[in-house]
Amino acid sequence: MVDRPIFILNGANLDLVGTREPGHYGDMTLADIERACRARADGLGFGIDFRQTNSEGELVGWIHEAEGAAGLVLNAGAYTHTSIAIHDALRALTRPSVEVHLSNIFAREPFRHHSYVAPVVRGSICGLGAKGYELAIEAVAALVGAERAG
Ligand code: DQA
Repeated sequence: MVDRPIFILNGANLDLVGTREPGHYGDMTLADIERACRARADGLGFGIDFRQTNSEGELVGWIHEAEGAAGLVLNAGAYTHTSIAIHDALRALTRPSVEVHLSNIFAREPFRHHSYVAPVVRGSICGLGAKGYELAIEAVAALVGAERAG
């Protein structure tokens, strides 16, 4: 097991997945997604620190905290499309980070097409449901591995 966990941070309204708009977000609850993430990370030798908040400021603080993590998987929810504060926090982060969205934000309303997160992470995954979180964990694990290999 690698010492530092991968942070998996979820923003506004993601506490409601499973019941909220299942046509967009699927029927897995956030607890189901956390279980799937834990299993995938475990298989790659990582622990996870999985959190959700509806508060933009708390999310900013957690992104600062991710400096002590192996890396970051972030679904900022609607803050993706609005938050310069989250953009700036990610810009300051030196650990590898990957953006994830359950739904395909580019196939939805125009206001979801812009992400303040995308330019300041290593990569983005969207539209693949909960599987996207597992793929993001794989990407972070690979980035950490590459870093170690020097
Ligand atoms: C979301 C997409 C956002 O546009 C939306 O505001 C969410 C969830 C997703 O996972 O598909 O809350 O980040």
